[in-house]
This record gives sequence, C-alpha cells and structure tokens, in this order.
Amino acid sequence: MAPDEVISPAGRWSGRLTSRPLPEVDPSIERLTDEDRATVMQVWLARAANERRVSDSFAVVVNALLALNAAPGLIDLARRAVDDELRHAEICRYVASRFAGADVPTPARLPLAVPPHATASEELRHTLHVVGQCCLNETIASAVLEASIVNARGALVAAALRELLSDEIDHGRLGWAYLATVRSELRGKIELWLPAIARGNLKMWRETPRLYATSIAVVEQGALPADRTEATLLGAIRDLIIPGFDRLGLSTVELRRWLELGAPTAAE
Ligand SMILES: [Fe+2]
Ligand SMILES: [Fe+2]
Repeated sequence: MAPDEVISPAGRWSGRLTSRPLPEVDPSIERLTDEDRATVMQVWLARAANERRVSDSFAVVVNALLALNAAPGLIDLARRAVDDELRHAEICRYVASRFAGADVPTPARLPLAVPPHATASEELRHTLHVVGQCCLNETIASAVLEASIVNARGALVAAALRELLSDEIDHGRLGWAYLATVRSELRGKIELWLPAIARGNLKMWRETPRLYATSIAVVEQGALPADRTEATLLGAIRDLIIPGFDRLGLSTVELRRWLELGAPTAAE
C-alpha cells in the first residue's frame, strides 16, 4: 500500500491485518512447481489490485449513504468497508509475497469507473451506487470466495480466503439492509435499472485482470479455472441476487430473461 494508506486502528481488527494470525508455515507452498508457484503469486497479486479498487468504490458508497441520509449504522459499516478492502489488498499482497518467497511490491492501481447513471435523479443515482456495489458486487465476491475455498488445500490461502469472506458477507448485507428501507416509489425506479446495473457489474467482473487456474495444484491454492469463474458469477446472480430482489418485492423478470440468454454484456 501507499504510505498514506495505513490500515486504520479504528477498523475492524484495531489495525491488525486479520482476526487471527495467518499461518507462518505452509509446506504446500514448497511442494509446488516453480511454474505453479509463479502463477499462484500472480493470482493473489491480481486479487490485491482488485481489492484496492473496491476500497475506492466503497468511498463512493459512503458518500452516497451520507447524501441519502441513511441510518448511521449503515454509514459506519460502509466506512469500515473502505478500511476492510485496504486490509484485503494487503492480505492478498502478503499471500502473493509468501509464494514469491520475497516481499512483492503493491500492484498498480486499477482505475475505478463509477457508473454515471446519467439519466437518473441524484437520489436514484446514489441508491444505484449502493445497490450496485453491495447487493451486486459484494454478493458476487462472496460467491467467488466460497467457490475458491471449496478446493483450497493450502493452509495459508484457506485462512486468507476465510478472512476476506467474513467481511464480504457484511458488505453485501449492507446493501440489502439499505434496500429494505427504501420507500416503494423509489424502489419502483430501482427496479427499472436492475438489468443495466447487473450487466455493468458482470462486465466489470468478466473484464477484471486476473489469472485463471490451469492446474489442480493452483486450484488448491485458492484460484478458479475460467469456466468455474463464469459459472460462479452467473450462479451468484441466479441463486443469490435475483432471490434477494424478489424477496424485497422488485420485479426480476428482465434479469431472468437476460440470464437465460447467457447474460450478454458485450453491447455495453
Ligand atoms: Fe474485499
Ligand atoms: Fe467487500
């Protein structure tokens, strides 16, 4: 991280990186071939860059919730998320360093493209930023981490993935909790935007630079193959996000139709 990005002592673990120390010994790292070890290092470094960008995204969510006069508890959770994502970036950089056998530098910042939602009112635009980041992105992130944990055999990566997942679940809940408080007239407007924000979010996931697992040994260090990643993204929308919107009374007819077409994002 840059020197001005010190993890906050007021954050979730009082400035510590993780709830419990990550394993200092992991023989599974030494058993990898040089090629797999280099791949795993790149997987985790790409994850670090992505987590850092999510911190920037949560800064947008904090401002949105402030403008929307959201409940103080939700604003506090969003502020914590800015810090959580900085910790995630550092956890991932640390894991990458363990596979590299030396401290690796912080990866280049990924640019954050905040969706302009240009035709939406200010209130609706802020709300869509909360829904897009929390209900969409964080729910998908939780699903990707869960899928990564299933086959993770390395002690270090399993512990790191669990640390990330425990926060992402909270970040997703933030959005669902906020959406539940939105008045019905605004909820009706959000509904019309669901296909657009889902397309935009899925496009971002599909285009985020990452390395895919090409061997079982790499899968066991917390990476996913390309086809499993795509299936997990679509599965999260189908099995978690659409039922979430349904439960809150938002129509998901268009979302379901889009998924049936294979969730195309190329036209964005
Ligand atoms: Fe994260
Ligand atoms: Fe998160």
